[in-house]
Amino acid sequence: MQLAKQLSKLGTETAFAVSAAAAAWAAKGNKVYPFHLGDINIATPNNIVEATIKAIADGYTGYCPGGGVMALRDAIAQDVGSKRGLSYSAENVSIQPGGKPVIGKFIMAVMNPGDEVLYPNPGYPIYESQIEYHGGSAVPYGYVETADGFALDLDGLKASITPKTTALIYNNYQNPNGAQSSRAEMEVVAQLALEYDLWVLADDAYYEIQYSGTPMTIADIPGMKERTVILYTCSKRFAMTGWRLGAAIGPTNVIDVINKLNTNIESCTPHFIQRAMVEAIAGDTSGPDHILAVLRQRRDACVAGLNAIDGINVATPNSTFYIFPNVTSIMARKGFSDVNQLMNEALIETSVSFCTRKHFGRPVAGEKDHYIRFAYSGIEVADINEGMAKLKTYFER
Ligand SMILES: Cc1ncc(COP(=O)(O)O)c(C=O)c1O
Repeated sequence: MQLAKQLSKLGTETAFAVSAAAAAWAAKGNKVYPFHLGDINIATPNNIVEATIKAIADGYTGYCPGGGVMALRDAIAQDVGSKRGLSYSAENVSIQPGGKPVIGKFIMAVMNPGDEVLYPNPGYPIYESQIEYHGGSAVPYGYVETADGFALDLDGLKASITPKTTALIYNNYQNPNGAQSSRAEMEVVAQLALEYDLWVLADDAYYEIQYSGTPMTIADIPGMKERTVILYTCSKRFAMTGWRLGAAIGPTNVIDVINKLNTNIESCTPHFIQRAMVEAIAGDTSGPDHILAVLRQRRDACVAGLNAIDGINVATPNSTFYIFPNVTSIMARKGFSDVNQLMNEALIETSVSFCTRKHFGRPVAGEKDHYIRFAYSGIEVADINEGMAKLKTYFER
């Protein structure tokens, strides 16, 4: 019996393999410093937990409409719209079990087999996987490293557009490199989308994980709202990664299709979680503020620890909970050519676990520098400091 041929196109999140290696190392009695997975070890705000228990007790345990509970669609429309200076209504919102499903459903809604879709690389690996699984061609665009962090390679992006390009995936507040567009950079991206008539997926998973300043959206540039689908998630904002609640927000013609896909795939997102989140999204903001305060301390400890290492010089990202240091000189010192060798040896030598550039899309021909990624959302400051000290000894050896 054979499995479907199309499965050869399906990728995965190889970061989960790093988790398995870290777990195996921990099972041997080692204390692992877990910088590999963007999971959060901060508790979900209590008001959300209590509202969920109440929603179950109140009997919201049956199916609900595929597009989601109207009150939640409405609350998310108001929240996303007011934060971005845009007007959305419930009809523009499709509730999802997490932010991730928006990626595949956006692709299914706007892409035909043979179309090209631009995606960030290094970037979240599910873009590449979903584009290719659905018969498209995943065309990468990259970033350049600057003294302030990472900026989009706009020339490379423009040069990658062809008559077959139908969509662009744009992850401002970027995983894995923490890149954040200036308004000018965002406007160039929008102009390209307008000029070449592209759909845009604005992956806003980290929109609320901002340490200073006001976040921006590409959707508010004139002409963009009509062609942009926003990926929204409660995972990072409310420390709810395992709950699975998110939404797609965009033009009603795409949202109607995504609602139909929901009905085909999962019927609906858990009903009681939707009921509980109406109030959390419309009202209380104390949870996210507390989460950001904790994350900020961890970020600062992590950046300081990395910059204390001879050969690492990394800027402080203003968003996300990732740091993506360039380790090219460490690689030269160790005599490694494959950055995963560094990852594997570091785990054994220091018990510090991290991902590498290779976990974020297929490396592009001609890449010269080596990068590793630290996620500090799942590790306390004391352990960050301990892990960084071990890494310093090992990296400098
Ligand atoms: C860039 C990006 N987009 C989307 C997601 C999906 O998150 P979730 O499905 O938990 O909402 C993640 C998760 O790490 C991410 O990093």
